[in-house]
Amino acid sequence: MTSGPSSFYITTPIYYPSDVPHIGHGYTTVAVDTLARWHRQAGDDTWMLTGTDEHGQKMMRAASANGATPQEWVDRLVGESWFPLLKTLDVANDDFIRTTQPRHEKRVQAFVQAIYDRGYIYAGEFEALYCVGCEEFKTESEIVDGEGPFEGLKVCAIHSKPLELLQEKNYFFKLSEFQDKLLELYSSVPDFVRPESARNEVVSFVKNGLKDLSISRSTFDWGIPLPWDESHVIYVWVDALLNYATAVGYGAELVDGASPSSNSGQGEFARRWPAYHVVGKDILRFHAVIWPAMLMAAGVEVPKGVFAHGWLLVGGEKMSKSKLTGIAPTEITDVFGSDAYRFYFLSAIAFGQDGSFSWEDLSARYQAELANGFGNLASRTTAMLERYFEGIVPPAGDYLPGDLAIQQTVANAATAADEAIERFRIDEAISSIWTIVDALNLYITENEPWALAKDDTQRERLGTVLYTAAEGLRALAVLLSPVMPVATEKLWIALGAAESIGRLVDQPIREAGAWGVLKPGSSVNGLAPLFPRVEQTV
Ligand code: ME8
Ligand code: MG
Repeated sequence: MTSGPSSFYITTPIYYPSDVPHIGHGYTTVAVDTLARWHRQAGDDTWMLTGTDEHGQKMMRAASANGATPQEWVDRLVGESWFPLLKTLDVANDDFIRTTQPRHEKRVQAFVQAIYDRGYIYAGEFEALYCVGCEEFKTESEIVDGEGPFEGLKVCAIHSKPLELLQEKNYFFKLSEFQDKLLELYSSVPDFVRPESARNEVVSFVKNGLKDLSISRSTFDWGIPLPWDESHVIYVWVDALLNYATAVGYGAELVDGASPSSNSGQGEFARRWPAYHVVGKDILRFHAVIWPAMLMAAGVEVPKGVFAHGWLLVGGEKMSKSKLTGIAPTEITDVFGSDAYRFYFLSAIAFGQDGSFSWEDLSARYQAELANGFGNLASRTTAMLERYFEGIVPPAGDYLPGDLAIQQTVANAATAADEAIERFRIDEAISSIWTIVDALNLYITENEPWALAKDDTQRERLGTVLYTAAEGLRALAVLLSPVMPVATEKLWIALGAAESIGRLVDQPIREAGAWGVLKPGSSVNGLAPLFPRVEQTV
């Protein structure tokens, strides 16, 4: 079962709705949305999935601390905070999975039953230290000595909170049997794990040997029951990882009957699977080790790849709600807008590395790159077209070397950006595209259209210069639309392109670098500043 060559299925992690979203969750989500929008606009058969991970102990505790049942708590948080996040950030996801949905629960049981039947699960006894924050048993190297109120205790290296000693009879997945197959996968598909640093970490982890994985819990019931032993619920990470498969129809034929009538059945799975997974590096091993091993055990194709991005840091530490350093995405979008949010995180941080968030850096980049760079280019070009050509895009006359250089910059940027997106390097794609912004601003300064406009003999030259600027903006709108869907849509309409060429989201992005797409004669409308001045309150 292999998806079609043009299938591009990409996922975010499914987040814990034990609490409200912060800018770290928003970061992963806008990155995946941008990659999905790019591929969709390239004509690939694209599907973007996001969602929420609603079972487990962390959720039970958050609910009870708030005097609610787990179901009430997740319904409230998902409805009031997690769905709205997608609107706040202009995310165009194709589906949203919640692990409490019946479609998911039934298919998870079918999967776990399948690997049980294939002999990969056994019952055993177990004692180890567990971090509820991570929902994970911890090994020696992930445990540190507590500080402050937790002095004298063993704490989780990520959450700095005490670990709990669990001693239970559990069911185990024979993860240890997959060491060689996983190492073979990493070497036969060298970019299965990206970036390189993440790959190296995973390879050396697996080379050190794998222990079998406890995949059930019997001391609480907020989870999906094991089909053959209902006194156990399925380990929340096994439940969660399976979302990527259940959401596109894995197991539909096993639980919903042979002829799936909806578009989320067996045919859908064949069409979409396998996926690309984008995750934060905190959950890399689950995705690059446990998940492919689970799939191998079931005889299902492994993912196309896993990309682990870095952490947003605040004060040098991973920003997190549990450490009270979480910043709500709306704090940024209320002031700067969703496009600026998307642009800032995706351009300022090398995708794959950590990045420090600061309000100063955000407002400086907003001002320099968006307001003065791209925004100003768009407003002065459209204003001059209105002033000198009554808002009608003029034809270009003979091109001079400087004009041809702009065409070359546009063509090169479009090629380089697509190539960077293939490597998931959104930051590099944006910096390639930004060569057009910088080149055009310089081009306008050097060609002084305002001076040409004073000389009637330069009328054709003026037309060539403004056509070049407008056509460059056309390419920018197409190339930046996955990153900044709102501003580019405004620009597209202002250029008159919606009427003369068609919808922005229908413009083939891999052909964005071709010259001469904007039609002379299109009527340009006035453009309010794309990135208005922000009152400095931070
Ligand atoms: O781990 N910087 O959910 P979660 C960058 N439910 N990204 C960050 C971040 C930060 N400081 N903090 C969080 C879970 N993220 C599981 C996942 S998937 C089958 C189950 C982002 O709510 C990043 O993508 O803790 C990270 O991997 C994810 O949120 C963790 O979200
Ligand atoms: Mg977490």
